[in-house]
Amino acid sequence: MINKIHTLGGYFHEYQKSYSNPEDFWEQQAECLYWRKRWDKVIDWNFEEPRINWFVGAKLNITESIFEKNLYTHGDNTAIIWEPNDADEQAISLTYRQLYVEVNKFANALKSLGVKKGDRVALYMPMVPELAIALLACARIGAIHSVIFAGFSAQSLADRINDAGAKVVLVSDGGYRGSKITPLKEIADEAIEQCPVVESVVVLKRTKCDIQMVGGRDIWWHDIIDGQDEYCPAEEMDAEDPLFILYTSGSTGKPKGILHTIGGYMVYTAYTFRNVFQYSRGDVYFCTADIGWITGHSYIVYGPLLNGAQTLMFEGIPTWPDAGRFWDIVDKHQVNQFYTAPTAIRSLLSLGNEYLAGKRLDSLKVLGTVGEPINEDAWHWYHDHVGKNRCPIVDTWWQTETGGVLISPLAGITPTKPSFATLPLPGVFPVIVDNEGKELKGNSVEGNLCIKFPWPGMARTIWGDHDRFRDTYFTSFKNYYFTGDGVRRDEDGYYRILGRVDDVINVSGHRLGTAEIENAINEHPLVNESAVVGYPHAIKGQGIYAFVVCPILSTGGEEGIRKSIKEGVSKIIGPIARPDLVQLVPGLPKTRSGKIMRRILRKIAEGDATNLGDISTLLDEDIVGKIIDSALVDV
Ligand code: PRX
Repeated sequence: MINKIHTLGGYFHEYQKSYSNPEDFWEQQAECLYWRKRWDKVIDWNFEEPRINWFVGAKLNITESIFEKNLYTHGDNTAIIWEPNDADEQAISLTYRQLYVEVNKFANALKSLGVKKGDRVALYMPMVPELAIALLACARIGAIHSVIFAGFSAQSLADRINDAGAKVVLVSDGGYRGSKITPLKEIADEAIEQCPVVESVVVLKRTKCDIQMVGGRDIWWHDIIDGQDEYCPAEEMDAEDPLFILYTSGSTGKPKGILHTIGGYMVYTAYTFRNVFQYSRGDVYFCTADIGWITGHSYIVYGPLLNGAQTLMFEGIPTWPDAGRFWDIVDKHQVNQFYTAPTAIRSLLSLGNEYLAGKRLDSLKVLGTVGEPINEDAWHWYHDHVGKNRCPIVDTWWQTETGGVLISPLAGITPTKPSFATLPLPGVFPVIVDNEGKELKGNSVEGNLCIKFPWPGMARTIWGDHDRFRDTYFTSFKNYYFTGDGVRRDEDGYYRILGRVDDVINVSGHRLGTAEIENAINEHPLVNESAVVGYPHAIKGQGIYAFVVCPILSTGGEEGIRKSIKEGVSKIIGPIARPDLVQLVPGLPKTRSGKIMRRILRKIAEGDATNLGDISTLLDEDIVGKIIDSALVDV
């Protein structure tokens, strides 16, 4: 069993212990899991190269900590509860033993396609049990999984498959999303045309929509698992071998393949899941994220399953058939811990309390949020109307790169404050620095959030680009991991995340690089250049505001252009990146060296053009007035 903290005193005690001797602390946590060979050294690191190795020399397979270690004691307990998109379709539940068999069979299926240790497998799938099975099957044979969120476009999918060099792609015919079906196989076919490395495509039948099977390349999921042996020996892996690549956006350039390795990620997700959510055996835990994001990896699949938990996977969306769907699921499956994003809370709040009427919600013990700052109104609504004033809210701050939660209350233990992530978990040592890199000590300070010591779940590199890894996270502030977030530590030492300080915007909890969106806009034949900024959005947290220079108008006029720009971005990146507002402008505010002054555009997008600060370094100061005057009438 993973160690669990029970009291606030216990938290401070563990924190102190971890601070004075992180190696001993993490060694004790690691001992709760199953290793074939113990480590020679707990950690070997420096943040300059950077080199981060945890549990050096240890051998393991993460699936043995999930299955072999526990099958005799809780093999018949439920591992996964699956709630389909359509509430009238039968929910499925899989015990640990059943899941084990499915994982082994699919692991053998992957082997039959020639997938070996170290090979990359890309997944482009809806939220069905086979997705979790496939991740674990990859881990079983030492293949590196790379899940691509099923809302990304063919182009985004192709870019990721090529970057990862995935030779096998797992997909389903279609994916249900409320009343719609996303044609996943069709999108994947378009993507794979640009991916010469892909040898095989395994297709799950889910929606039964019409698809084309490509001879010699495509094979049905049900055919490939048919007759496979129910046991597949687990590949012996090094603690620092890769477990998965997950793409995320940065402030510049193309998305980065964040790489997580096996040993440290296992220890970190197992420990943080148990402690943040205060999970007890028998509880039903429901995280509404998609496995296409890090939250799904760490807190639908790995963290819960390493704890022998019952983890609920939901295929659908919160508003279908109506905005009471989450609450129906909570009542139907007697959910104890519920974990979602502030965007979902804000959107449900805006639809009114009638969708909560008649829902009992009395099984709930813990509520969680992740992905973006939660405003106080949303926090209170969640606390009062969903949690009925009984359930602590854990506002968990973390990132794709951190692998697991770094700053969060422990449910029911740490006193909470609305919109504060509160205190760091044991083994996590945050520092706040000013723009010159000077540490701001003490309380009541605000600045850039950095972490000064490694934790086991942190990313090890960017796939194929270690220099970019170093430059992005370890050069802004010497000897620190820089998160890209601004933060305030208040008078009680509590942390409040203020949002990104770089050119990343967080739309509905999805992370997007402004440069990425600009590149997509600039592909429009009539566009000269563009600049994208975030602006406050009541539901999404941040909306996407694009300033576009487009000197010649097409026959559709301004309105037609704005629409086609938005559609272009949807097509190139995916609907999540579609700009909310497009303003056609005569030029962009640039310094003499040609750098766009986004600070000015952000102010204009926020509707606060009164105090723009110093604009004297602009090449053309008049452009600011012209942008303000080109009133925004958006489609
Ligand atoms: O800005 C922070 C915000 O989401 C960013 C990380 O995004 P991503 O890698 O997609 O991972 C999201 C899920 C872990 C962070 O840099 N963020 C995440 N959690 C919170 C948050 N902002 C405020 N409060 C949070 N609880």
